[in-house]
Amino acid sequence: MKNIVLFASGSGSNVENIVQYFHDKPNVTIASVLTNKRDAKVLDRCNKLNISSLCFNRIAFQETDCILDILKGMDPDLIVLAGFLWKVPEKIINSFPNKIINIHPALLPKYGGKGMYGNKVHMAVKNNNESESGITIHYVNEHYDEGAIIHQAKTKILPEDKVDDIATKVHALEYEHFPKIIEQLLAQ
Ligand code: GAR
Repeated sequence: MKNIVLFASGSGSNVENIVQYFHDKPNVTIASVLTNKRDAKVLDRCNKLNISSLCFNRIAFQETDCILDILKGMDPDLIVLAGFLWKVPEKIINSFPNKIINIHPALLPKYGGKGMYGNKVHMAVKNNNESESGITIHYVNEHYDEGAIIHQAKTKILPEDKVDDIATKVHALEYEHFPKIIEQLLAQ
């Protein structure tokens, strides 16, 4: 049995997609979904999906070993950041080498780094008149969006595409690729 912990900060549509993907796969369980935002929509999704969830603050995550100890207790095979916006403290990264992955809504190393998340990324892509964007799934290290790349996928951007259109195209790639990459990593 393989066991995943998910982190999210907002809507959680990727969380829902991942939960649904593994729903009928008896060898993978979602141990819990952890969020730093008490009003995040992902918490409603977890309730509807009957998935365990947990909300924490900066003290629990960064200043004490509270979340680290909870993670150790869950003994995850993979920790998946699915729209999680806080930097992961080094002590957590060091405790789970090559077990923490993130999805970024652009083709890293372009459009990464602190403050680059969600629609801010798509707006920058639009403002630079890019003809393509995409997703990057990568290992997490101590720098924002700089860990080793596991997988990228691209989508064409048309001149008439608005920021929301880019977001929709990128989300579609995320839903298609992210669960499959998680499954492949769990099988290694
Ligand atoms: C996703 O597009 C994900 O790639 C992005 O946040 C969105 C969350 O959507 N992550 C980042 O920007 C991280 N820098 P969701 O809450 O609907 O899954």
